Order: sequence, then C-alpha cells, then structure tokens
Amino acid sequence: CLLMPLSCTSPPRTSRFFSPKTPESFASLMIRVRRCGGGLHDWPGKPGFELENHGAADEYVHVWTRAEGKKRAGCRPAEKKRGGKGMIADQTLRMAADRRNLLVGAACSPHLIAREPEYAQTLAREFNCLVAENCMKAAYVQPERGRFDFGPADRLVAFAEENRMRVRGHTLVWHNQMPEWMKTAGFSREEALGVMRDHIRGVLAHFKGRVFCWDVVNEALADGGGWRMKSPWFQMIGPDYVEAAFRFAREADPDVLLFYNDYGMDQPGSKADECYRMVRDFLDRGVPIDGVGFQYHLGVENHLDRSACAANVRRFRELGLAVHFTEMDMGIRKPITDELRSQQASEYANRVGIALDAGVSALVFWGFTDKYSWVPSFTKGEYDEPLLFDSSYRPKPAWKAVFDALAS
Ligand code: G3I
Repeated sequence: CLLMPLSCTSPPRTSRFFSPKTPESFASLMIRVRRCGGGLHDWPGKPGFELENHGAADEYVHVWTRAEGKKRAGCRPAEKKRGGKGMIADQTLRMAADRRNLLVGAACSPHLIAREPEYAQTLAREFNCLVAENCMKAAYVQPERGRFDFGPADRLVAFAEENRMRVRGHTLVWHNQMPEWMKTAGFSREEALGVMRDHIRGVLAHFKGRVFCWDVVNEALADGGGWRMKSPWFQMIGPDYVEAAFRFAREADPDVLLFYNDYGMDQPGSKADECYRMVRDFLDRGVPIDGVGFQYHLGVENHLDRSACAANVRRFRELGLAVHFTEMDMGIRKPITDELRSQQASEYANRVGIALDAGVSALVFWGFTDKYSWVPSFTKGEYDEPLLFDSSYRPKPAWKAVFDALAS
C-alpha cells in the first residue's frame, strides 16, 4: 500500500511486491520513483524487498532502505582501490552512470574475459551492463536444430552477475550469424515460423530473469527504405516475421523487455522514419514491443546535430518506448592524429549529450578496447581506434569526454 500513491495509471504487469519484515523498517524506507530510466541495475536485491514493474516500458519503482541508499551514494571499498592504468581511483564510467541511474555497457566476449585479466577487470570496473558481441546469436546458441549450446553465453552471464552488471540480450532474429541449417533447409512459411518460435522459446526460457531485455529483431529494415528483403527470415516468412518474433518473445517471457535494434537511424532521415512508422504501427495493433535500439556505428567524420538527433530519438520515447544506444563506436580514418583523437572525444561527448537530452536509458559501446573491435577488419584497415580505451587498456581522450559528460 505504501507504493500505491506512486503507481502509474496502467495496472502492474509484473507485481512482485516488497515485504519489509517489521513495521519499523517502513520508517527507514527511502522511496525513489524513476520513470523511464531503465535503472533496474541499481536494484539492491535485498531479501524482503522486491521490484515492481508497472508495465510501461522501462518504468520501475525502486525501494530500498535509507542505509542502503547512503551506501550506494559512495562506492564499495573494493571499487575504490581499483584504478586501472592512467585512471583516477573512484572515477569510472560505471560510477558516473550509477549516479545518474543510467546503464553504461559494452559488447564483450566470454573467451577474452577468461583469457585476459585486464580485459575482465576493465569491463567490470567501467560498466554496469554488458552484451554478448557474438555468443548469444543463433549460430552459436543453436548450431544444430534442437541442440542448444549456452556454454559461452552462460559464462558471460555468470561474469555479469558476479560483478553486479545487467545483461542486454543480443540477438534473437537476425539475417546474419544464423546457423546454416536455419537458412538453407528450404522451410515453408509455417515451418520457418515454427523454427523461429522454438528458437525464441529456447533462448528466452534459458535466460529468464537473468537477461533484462532482448534485441528481438535486428536490422530488418533496408538501407534504402522498406524491408531488408534478402533476409532469410523475410524470404521464408514474409514481412510479418518481425511482428511474429515479438509475439513469440512475449509469449515466451512476459517480463523481459523487447527491443527492435537497427543502424542508420541515428540521425533524422528515411530509415528513422521507417522505423518510427513500424513501431507506431506495432503499438497501434498491440504487437508487444518495449523499446528501440539505436546502434550508432558512425565514423568520427559524422558530426551529429545534437538537437536534431535528440528530437529524432525523443519521438520514439514519446510513444512510450524505452530507447537504448546499443552499439556505439567511432572509427577514425587513417592516418590517425591526436587532433582526430580529440575530435573523436568531442563527438563521443556529443553522443552522450544526445542520449541525456532524449532520455535514453542505456548507453552501450560495441567493445571498449581498441585491441578488439570489428571496425578495422570490416573497413579493411581504413578505420581504427574506435573505442574508449587504447589497445593497452589506457583510457583515451574519448573515455575522459564520456566520463565528463556523464559526470557533469
Ligand atoms: O566463430 C568464427 C571462428 O570459428 C573463426 O575461427 C573466425 C575466423 O575469422 O571467425 C569467427 O566468426 C567471426 C565472428 O565474428 C566471431 O568472432 C566472423 O568471422 C565475423 O564475421 C563475426 O563478426 C561479427 C559480426 O557482427 C557478424 O556480422 C562481429 O564480431 C560483431 O561485432 C558484429 O556485430 C554486429 C551486431 O551483432 C549487429 N550490428 C552490427 C554489428 C557490427 O557488424
């Protein structure tokens, strides 16, 4: 009943009420309501207290004791001691993001976590969220029909849990990194819908409660407008594969947040308009969707107009959807100079500014060290150094710019 006056108008979709053990504990409760902040990560998970999700995307009510609130305003002793190379102890992206109740995340690999202590330490120190760069994609989790392999993905989720990080799920339905069997068996429309449903069910059941949101469909829109018709999913099922995927995902897990994720809509333009029309149509017709992921894979030369980009993102928020920036990186065209590195820093600050202006609740980078990024190989060596730490895990000017923008 304490929460009732704070409730949103819509009825709770998931109602797991907190239950303080004694009446006295009410007196010390600090209640904090965050709307559309996606701050699930700061839920302390104390026994006797639970989280209430009021149904609208990313709207949560957080409740914890005054004592817990004070403790969190500082930081844990273990974190205080750990400053990495060239880092000031106590100043991490994670702490700056925590203070804003934002998620700051990075794409990563369980193999590198296991192999390179500095990789794992930097990831856990700097980020409160992670996403699998590859190991949750269909080719890896269902290499043969009906045989799921969650080994690497499980190790990644365990690492996140050990380090109190949230996990974004990436991705259920995509035209790339599908296992061969899934795209070449010549399935009929009905069979393909069954394959998709079984894949989504299998993955969501496995990660239920441990992955807080999923990129249900990735990159279904074509660069030139309309659907990406070369996608095996489009070819097997037709354009309604996208909404079918969202419906299967909601059936499989009523609680997890469901995102559409794409690139090329980071600035106002035809692809962003197309995506806007698609998700508005989904909402009008009751297709379950909670959020949109803007990837933000752009080179440093792409200066973004802060207010125009924020307005572009905000219109999605105004539909009641959560927005995450999901795959940020910023390659620099070679030859790379210090001037270009400074330009990269200010463009990164600009992107954080767009996110903050538009109420984006998660900022996820597609990697964090220049030692490991898809950019150099994808651009055939034309671009490099796209991330916040250099290849020796030293923070770059870009890191400082992002930290300052978050801390300001
Ligand atoms: O798994 C094989 C391994 O067995 C083999 O030895 C090795 C040799 O090259 O290749 C490995 O597969 C590579 C895989 O990444 C895992 O490392 C593929 O060749 C490579 O193409 C694949 O690239 C990934 C790419 O998606 C696939 O399209 C990138 O790492 C990953 O960063 C990238 O991520 C995508 C997002 O999921 C969606 N948005 C765009 C983004 C960038 O393309």
